[in-house]
Amino acid sequence: MSGRSLFIDTLNGVNQSGRPPLWVMRQAGRYLPEYRALKEKYSFLEMVKNPELATEVTLQPLRRFKLDAAIVFSDILVIPEAMGQGYDFRNGGGIEMTSKISSEKDIDQLSTEAIQEKLSYVSSTLKLLRKELGGNQALLGFCGSPWTLACYMIEGGSADGFPKALAWAKEHPASFHKLLGKIADALIEYLKMQASCGVDALQIFDSWHNLCPSDHLWDYSLHWIQKVIENIPSELAIIVYANASADRLCEIKKTGTRALGVHHNTDLPEVRKRLPSPLVLQGNLDPELMETNAGQVAIETNKILDSMRNDPAHIMNLGHGIRPNAKIECMEALVDSVLALGHH
Ligand code: CP3
Repeated sequence: MSGRSLFIDTLNGVNQSGRPPLWVMRQAGRYLPEYRALKEKYSFLEMVKNPELATEVTLQPLRRFKLDAAIVFSDILVIPEAMGQGYDFRNGGGIEMTSKISSEKDIDQLSTEAIQEKLSYVSSTLKLLRKELGGNQALLGFCGSPWTLACYMIEGGSADGFPKALAWAKEHPASFHKLLGKIADALIEYLKMQASCGVDALQIFDSWHNLCPSDHLWDYSLHWIQKVIENIPSELAIIVYANASADRLCEIKKTGTRALGVHHNTDLPEVRKRLPSPLVLQGNLDPELMETNAGQVAIETNKILDSMRNDPAHIMNLGHGIRPNAKIECMEALVDSVLALGHH
């Protein structure tokens, strides 16, 4: 059975193969020497905007590891850029945007026009990838959630706890909602474009979900995710990733998502008890383990595999992005542990 079929069966809640599909999210390139070699010649943004290079970087991890799906090499910040707020990386780590939103006028000036044209490099990359992967591996597109993108846009980059964004939301709710609405409109255009390029699923990263206050869960975050999901082709599987506790995951399900990406601090079997299949659960090995050793990774991977054994709707994944210091032997141990299950 191909990785793609396994992935699609799992998205449909009917995986009977005895093992879950496996992929790893975000920054999958950075720990690989072949990615770092390309980075000597090109900047991150040059690679993201060049479909051949972006395709190559996407495929690098798949050449080393028997993964069942690939996630396109891009970033959640391409949307703010297309709306008029560019981004780059600080030397010491983190995001620096070319401007920040500090008045209602800044929000009015954000553009939601020609999103598909401005991001046509992503559709070119996805089409190349679909051709390269064929039926062998699944292909995932992605975007950031309106809440998470608004955090970066108001702050003008990475910031501990995003205090400016939280203060804005509280002090200027009407303009904050206007901002979220504009981001959602841009995302709908962007995801429609990705949907037309042959992706098997789309992942929405609500990475800063944990900063969203409980009494504003819907009007800051979930309402806008729901709006995006309602406005893209309904047959396409959506995976919402959020670092959220089990009770919040029950709320997130109400957005209409097919799958939930579960943070590694959350008890996966406990979540499954509350949210039975066919809701798809994705996760949730602690990415820090990838910096330890192969034996440790095998032990922890098997714990998760055992606890979700024969679940027809479980996708094996890290509970967050892989880190730059991940060890290749640890990735191999993860992959080998999952594949071993398929042989029994
Ligand atoms: O596996 C993949 O490479 C898929 C492509 C991908 C990237 N970023 C590439 C990337 C995906 C799916 C993302 C998602 C993303 N980007 C998120 C959501 C996931 C999460 O972690 O919650 C967020 C918040 C971003 C924004 C972003 N981009 C951050 C916070 C950083 C790290 C900055 C730093 O200094 O560490 C990036 C950079 C980035 N995005 C890299 C890659 C490969 C590293 C760039 C490099 O160093 O070469």
